[in-house]
Amino acid sequence: MTRKSKKPTIISLFSGAGGMDLGFEQAGFETIWANDFDEDSTRTYKRNIGDIVLGDIGAIQSKDIPDKPDIVLGGFPCQGFSIANSIRRSVDDSRNKLYKQMIRVIRDKKPKYFVAENVQGILSLGKGIVMQKILHDFSKLGYQIDWKLLNAADYGVPQSRKRVFIIGNRLGKKNPFPSPSHFGYVNGTKDLSLFEEDYSKYERHVSTEQAISFLSKVRTRDKSFLHKNQWIHNHVADTNVKDEFWGRKYDVNQHDVCDYLKHWRSKSDWSVKRIDEYFGYAHTAGHWFRKDNNSGSIPNPDDWWGLKKLLKFDSKYDKKVTTFVKKKISFEQSLRISNWDKPSDTITATSPEIHPNGTRRLSVRECAILQSFPMNFIFEGSTFRSMHKQIGNAVPVDLAYKIAKGIKKLI
Ligand SMILES: C[S@@+](CC[C@H](N)C(=O)[O-])C[C@H]1O[C@@H](n2cnc3c(N)ncnc32)[C@H](O)[C@@H]1O
Repeated sequence: MTRKSKKPTIISLFSGAGGMDLGFEQAGFETIWANDFDEDSTRTYKRNIGDIVLGDIGAIQSKDIPDKPDIVLGGFPCQGFSIANSIRRSVDDSRNKLYKQMIRVIRDKKPKYFVAENVQGILSLGKGIVMQKILHDFSKLGYQIDWKLLNAADYGVPQSRKRVFIIGNRLGKKNPFPSPSHFGYVNGTKDLSLFEEDYSKYERHVSTEQAISFLSKVRTRDKSFLHKNQWIHNHVADTNVKDEFWGRKYDVNQHDVCDYLKHWRSKSDWSVKRIDEYFGYAHTAGHWFRKDNNSGSIPNPDDWWGLKKLLKFDSKYDKKVTTFVKKKISFEQSLRISNWDKPSDTITATSPEIHPNGTRRLSVRECAILQSFPMNFIFEGSTFRSMHKQIGNAVPVDLAYKIAKGIKKLI
């Protein structure tokens, strides 16, 4: 990658479509090296931001990454931690390499600052020990570390999205986190918790309606088009808005069924472990026999008949458990409608919510707007799935921009 200017430099790991990087570029940084192993993400990145290396970070040697950047950015994925039933297992899990990769690059490249982003769930993994271990490993590199859980809505993004940001620096400075600029309502109550003093100087949260209603009645289409003098790209949407599902015909109480199965299992010589092995599951059978909390589950019809062969129970619940019919579900119950008058629910990497107009899901463009990507940012990818994944994975550009501005002042 050739250097364009004397701007402070970024090395970007796990860059995705580049939401975080774009915010930093807008604040005056320049990306000198970026990497992701998802091909569509790298196509999007190239089209909108610049060069990016396609490949697994684990297979890229430090000597192939430029030295002494001002900042290393990375939203490392945390699958390695997500099986965190056992703390040791999660901390030592080999899939955890990704977080170690970020540590490796920071150790070898010695940026002045680094910013890592992750989901809120990382705070509670292993009862908080995973997070402690991460912070410990970062500080062992000689960095002053601070972290905060930020809600993008409080920074003017039209979306409620809470993410953990870890900032570290080796300049011995206090790490800067942006101050909230917007306030609003949480569950119908005015949320002033962040604002001890006069909140009138803050702006109101930006609602979904304010952000995307201008596209509500605009026909979706594959090609870019001009709408009220503005180019609209990626206004494509899935029209799968089914409102039927297969459900049990009769009401059946989960606790009663679990009690019942537990009783019949205790009369048999089948251990829960053997039952799991018989069905080829890991830990599912445990849920069928559980009654003392709400995590029990009722077997599906195939498993019910399979269990009956093993445990030889009577026919008390056969009909109730195994009779299924197609049911209508009401739109409101089944499919989260965007919080139209509030910041939207979190835009995830999976299928987006159904638009309040009921005819389609949110379009790729609408999701991109709710993530504060600029209108001229174009997503590449042959499927909705791929584009929605890139968008849902991203750090909202405007939030990244505000974080970047604080750091830029100190560099
Ligand atoms: C949460 S996303 C990052 C989003 C990005 N920070 C943004 O703001 O747009 C994580 C990214 O890590 C990438 N990734 C996961 N494992 C990787 C690996 N081993 N090597 C390179 N990239 C990887 C994924 O393809 C995904 O794009």
